[in-house]
Amino acid sequence: TDPANSTGGEGSTPASAQTITLGFSQVGAESGWRSANTKSIQDSAKEAGYDLKFSDAQQKQENQIKALRSFIQQKVTVIAFSPVVESGWDTVLKEAKDAGIPVILTDRAVDSADKSLYKTFIGSDFVEEGRKAGQWLADQYKDAQEDVNIVELQGTTGSAPANDRQEGFMEVIGSNAKLKVIASQTGDFTRAKGKEVMQAFLKAHKKIDVLYAHNDDMALGAIQAIEAAGLKPGVDIKIISVDAVKDGMQAAADGKINFIVECNPLLGPQLMEAVQAVVDGKEIEARIVTDETTFTSEQAKEALPTREY
Ligand code: AHR
Repeated sequence: TDPANSTGGEGSTPASAQTITLGFSQVGAESGWRSANTKSIQDSAKEAGYDLKFSDAQQKQENQIKALRSFIQQKVTVIAFSPVVESGWDTVLKEAKDAGIPVILTDRAVDSADKSLYKTFIGSDFVEEGRKAGQWLADQYKDAQEDVNIVELQGTTGSAPANDRQEGFMEVIGSNAKLKVIASQTGDFTRAKGKEVMQAFLKAHKKIDVLYAHNDDMALGAIQAIEAAGLKPGVDIKIISVDAVKDGMQAAADGKINFIVECNPLLGPQLMEAVQAVVDGKEIEARIVTDETTFTSEQAKEALPTREY
């Protein structure tokens, strides 16, 4: 039987009664968040009894496009992927559609105007995450008399979380003229680049009051650079980051990160439910948003012992 046949036409076995083959193209292994996300997807696919074809794109769109084409060729039942960047997906998504293979987006969005190219998008509201980061900062400095100099470590250029976390943050802090982003550069969501870029920021700018890092890993790299420069992270430079993975939460509990906006990587169970619904021909929401919270240092201390990832 052909596992790609999810329509269950006359004489064929419906896909729901066959082993479902799920082709999943992951961004890479750039962060603690990503490792937790990969594990969640692998564990949930196993539990659901799906045959998972997993491919790591090493943060390159070209690798992801190759993986998607290979899934189409292999006639998988469903394709799911977390797009490295937002743009440039229309052609390959159209190829999947023409082959009759449904596509589900997880974690990151694409900017395709044609929404029929995918069934649903499961993941966080990154703009809201940026707003939460900005709101904490705006509250902390609401009475500031002097300029507050902010440096920003952005995620991967062109990725949805980098675009959206900047947008939400700027939207909120824009109402206070004292809050000034004096430098903004990509750290590609990795610890190594976070450290490198923070070193450059520290060299170029005498007075840095706040670091806004688009993820914990970059914040953790930056903390190394700040300490190496003889400064106290969380005290001399306030730090806000996104994710709330264990290492980030530990740094928050230690007072080195002041505020973390949670981004939940445990998307596996929701993805498998969506795959089953699509295969069964059920109605599915076009957008499935993940529930998330925030942590101050105190709250991180409390949450750490039971943190799953
Ligand atoms: O797309 C989610 C982001 O990607 C996470 O915040 C970051 O850590 C990861 O690399």
